Amino acid sequence: RGTPSLRVTEWSDMVRWWPTLGAASEKYTRGVVGVATGSSTYPGAAVLSVGGALAGPTGMVRYAGGARAEVLHQHPSVIATGKVADAGRVQAWVCGSGLGTGEDAAAELRAVLAAPVPVVLDADALTLLVDGSLAESLRKRDAPTVVTPHDREFARLCGEAPGADRVGATLRLAAWMNAVVLLKGDRTVIGTPDGRAYVNPTGTPVLATGGTGDVLAGLLGSLLAGGLPAERAAAAAAYLHGLAGREAARGGPVTAPDVAAALRPVVARLS
Ligand code: APR
Ligand code: MG
Repeated sequence: RGTPSLRVTEWSDMVRWWPTLGAASEKYTRGVVGVATGSSTYPGAAVLSVGGALAGPTGMVRYAGGARAEVLHQHPSVIATGKVADAGRVQAWVCGSGLGTGEDAAAELRAVLAAPVPVVLDADALTLLVDGSLAESLRKRDAPTVVTPHDREFARLCGEAPGADRVGATLRLAAWMNAVVLLKGDRTVIGTPDGRAYVNPTGTPVLATGGTGDVLAGLLGSLLAGGLPAERAAAAAAYLHGLAGREAARGGPVTAPDVAAALRPVVARLS
């Protein structure tokens, strides 16, 4: 490993990274995000993660999960398929929020991990990784993986809480998992397996409300599907999500759907 590098993400990074998005794309094949989230018990997680994905730069989503009716009702532009295996070509997968932790969910996670495209794992997908064979297939992936734990999810994955050195903890987990780690918090940290880290300065406590993490995961999927390298996609998602939280707060008390809606004017400043 080289010298650890640590930077605070800036707006100028967004401007610099943005032109990469969709650079080599064609009209019908570019930037489709596959979303495997939600369930009949947690349809809201699906609606929010799809909302985050639709607000990103690629804007086309295939939904493969158990909350089809709710997703289509809220987001009629989405193509809903049954299972991950039936979804056809996607350029990145988002998996986990509200998915459940039973055998069906594990099978869907296994299918996502087998896809040769970038993957975002959040929430229930992280819980499912306590299964050693799933964790092993994650570590063996060739395409990039981004995991997006909050502190309790981090503790479950790692066996111990992040502690005071959040950058060090993030980098250790990233190296061990062979994945980019986005450790959520008021200052979200992004770390790569090869020891580079970003700290996000745009966080705001208004984001501390149920479901904003699902919006973040969807947005991150869109950035990956658009072709940003995983650590840039993660750093950009955290940065834009924070700005959207601030934007949403101008209209009063913030709920997660407000954050998804507020991503649009934020992203529009770059497009
Ligand atoms: N300051 C800035 N950002 C914050 C803060 C804070 N004080 N607290 C949380 N955030 C941000 C995080 O960085 C992250 O982007 O809000 C988002 C929260 O994401 P999650 O922790 O994944 O929360 P979420 O899944 O949306 O909702 C979780 O609902 O389902 C329940 O058990 C779940 O209690 C949990 C809640
Ligand atoms: Mg969450």
